[in-house]
Amino acid sequence: ELGPYSHFMQKEIHEQPKALSDTIEAVLENGFAAGLFGARAAELLPQVEGVKILACGTSYYAGLTAKYWIESIAGISCDVEIASEYRYRAAFANPKHLVVTISQSGETLDTMEALKYAKELGHTMALSICNVRESAIPRASELVFYTRAGAEIGVASTKAFTTQLVGLFALAVTLGKQRGRVDAAAEHGYQEALRQLPGSVQHALNLEPQIKAWSDKFAAKQNALFLGRGLHYPIALEGALKLKEISYIHAEAYPAGELKHGPLALVDESMPVVVIAPNDALLEKVKSNMQEVRARGGELFVFADLDSHFSESDGVHVIRTPRHVGVLSAIVHTIPVQLLAYHVALARGTDVDKPRNLAKSVTVE
Ligand code: M6R
Repeated sequence: ELGPYSHFMQKEIHEQPKALSDTIEAVLENGFAAGLFGARAAELLPQVEGVKILACGTSYYAGLTAKYWIESIAGISCDVEIASEYRYRAAFANPKHLVVTISQSGETLDTMEALKYAKELGHTMALSICNVRESAIPRASELVFYTRAGAEIGVASTKAFTTQLVGLFALAVTLGKQRGRVDAAAEHGYQEALRQLPGSVQHALNLEPQIKAWSDKFAAKQNALFLGRGLHYPIALEGALKLKEISYIHAEAYPAGELKHGPLALVDESMPVVVIAPNDALLEKVKSNMQEVRARGGELFVFADLDSHFSESDGVHVIRTPRHVGVLSAIVHTIPVQLLAYHVALARGTDVDKPRNLAKSVTVE
């Protein structure tokens, strides 16, 4: 069942080009049309004036990424909330807002209860982004987008996350098109970006030997920091979660601009700092944050792309993903942080597929 792989997590990381192609195929067949999200989408999506995303764990980070796309591409306000927080607070419900739940399993109790609570509060439109057909959450939702990742067995979510991002990106473009914000040329550009994505992800997977070579530098550490900005900040969060979940190293992620507001005090020679630094509009800002780290002796591990123009120097290690892929760069940059967590866990000898204290599907409070 594992084929040439040592763990389900490694297998599932490497299945991403296929999982993404399968999910993208569904999007391209439909062409960013309402039908992608179920029979009632043509009636409901045009009514949407805002988006509220509810999810847990890695699926929550997919939601944080989607916020950037939904606001910039569709021009609709989007807020993202941890399901276990939302369900216990006296929240404000605008019935014109679409509730979007994200769940690989479709059975996560907190997400399910948050959805029920949203309905009680007066929401009438809910979309489920889910990987398991006919599971509880899509059954309780008016609209659904099924990711085509195939069964995910490792407790650490990998291919479910990147395919969720495709579904959420498709939602942003579909809403943008309905609102006249995405013209034919822009739509063509987004389609092309999706078509290129599996190939770029494969390039990132080919970096595995280089990433493995870094793992010994982390294996003996107690802590790690992950930094990113903009669309790559949620990917830093995801990288930190993956590392703590399977290697048991304490890892935290920050938007790089927040460093000086507190976490910089943690940085010294013993603190590895992973930076996600592709060549986007925020690169120069990220570079100055990296200098702040180096000045305190922190060792930098940078995931850049070919266009970022970094050079290695003392205490600065760089691995380059392919050319900058634009709006979907966050998906490509997920691969190296998954591989880093995997190889650090291997170096530490932990149970990669079944980390202690965790379950694949969290059906308890
Ligand atoms: O099945 P779900 O997507 O609802 O699960 C949510 C979280 O429990 C899940 O993403 C968890 O954080 C993963 N173990 C992270 O790798």
